Amino acid sequence: MSDQQNTQIRMRRHPAGMVTTDDFETVQAPLPTLEAGQALVRNKFLSLDPYMRPRMDPLRSYVQPLAIGDLMPGGTVGEVIESKEASLPKGTLVASQLGWQTHGVVNKTTVRVLDPKLGSPSAALGVLGMTGVTAHYGLLALAKPQKGETVVVTAASGAVGGIVGQIAKLKGCRVVGIAGGAEKCRYVVEELGFDACVDYKAADFEQQLAAATPDYVNVLFENVGGPVFDAVLQRIADHARIALCGNISQYNAKEPYGVKGLRQLLMHRVTTYAFVIADHRDYWPTALAELSAWVKEGKLKFREDVAEGLEAAPQAFIRMLTGSNFGKTLVKVG
Ligand SMILES: NC(=O)c1ccc[n+]([C@@H]2O[C@H](COP(=O)([O-])OP(=O)(O)OC[C@H]3O[C@@H](n4cnc5c(N)ncnc54)[C@H](OP(=O)(O)O)[C@@H]3O)[C@@H](O)[C@H]2O)c1
Repeated sequence: MSDQQNTQIRMRRHPAGMVTTDDFETVQAPLPTLEAGQALVRNKFLSLDPYMRPRMDPLRSYVQPLAIGDLMPGGTVGEVIESKEASLPKGTLVASQLGWQTHGVVNKTTVRVLDPKLGSPSAALGVLGMTGVTAHYGLLALAKPQKGETVVVTAASGAVGGIVGQIAKLKGCRVVGIAGGAEKCRYVVEELGFDACVDYKAADFEQQLAAATPDYVNVLFENVGGPVFDAVLQRIADHARIALCGNISQYNAKEPYGVKGLRQLLMHRVTTYAFVIADHRDYWPTALAELSAWVKEGKLKFREDVAEGLEAAPQAFIRMLTGSNFGKTLVKVG
């Protein structure tokens, strides 16, 4: 990667349904000049996350949607290559929100300084970053599973789901994943240690889910929405809690799926906690301290799906939105 120019990927148009590579454009911009208190960062890793897709739609949301020509947003890890800020000397490794570009400007309030001794810096975008904190918050601060309860996790092999299920196991729960395909289900059970995993693409998915949840579902960590969500509602227990984290099956949908299970929410007196982790910055230190300890002790495993080069980001993003990723989706920028 050259430090002469800043390569950026911007939104070229609003997607119509499933996102395509034509919805993006690559632009060469001059490197920014620094003011006092700023540092120039060369990105090493970019995190690709499902939330980026709804941000491409011109709809009211919890943040301003992207306008045509805007830089695609995203979490990044990179190295300071020039600095006018004493606390961020050249060589400092930082996590920030620089988006889909090779370089960006930070100041001390927009970065998390990383310890290079703590293993691969990319973990700061996954288990030791936004997705890990999301798993911790939704499960432990909101749904609060009790020992012996049944916890169901959708998108179970993914960045958030894989961590949720392992934390629920650490808390003594019976944990059932839902994932797409036999290989992802095998990984969830044999490598992550869930008690069972059901393939939602199987013809007898509902029957398999019923067999895996004989005592019904006390906690649902919901990442997917659509028919998978409806199927779990048929198995919901009295006074269950739902951590409503994501709705990925609907992010590219032209017509939203109409949930049929509202009756179950009422009959079983279910509490639903919808949350967006961006609202809970004060929770990060608590979650990161515990997640780091579990990773060090070998109690949390995670997997990364890494695309090479910034130009691979649109295709890798589409792979994630169609379930072809396997683990936390990242781009190795340079
Ligand atoms: N509330 C928050 O603050 C917050 C923060 C982070 C993430 N999230 C949400 O958490 C969810 C998971 O995010 P992640 O980063 O961990 O992604 P991920 O699970 O690593 O990757 C996305 C996965 O979603 C599954 N998927 C895609 N389309 C689907 C469909 N139509 N039906 C069922 N499953 C489908 C695929 O797995 P399969 O192959 O198993 O289908 C795919 O691998 C997303 O909904 C995301 O928006 C929310």
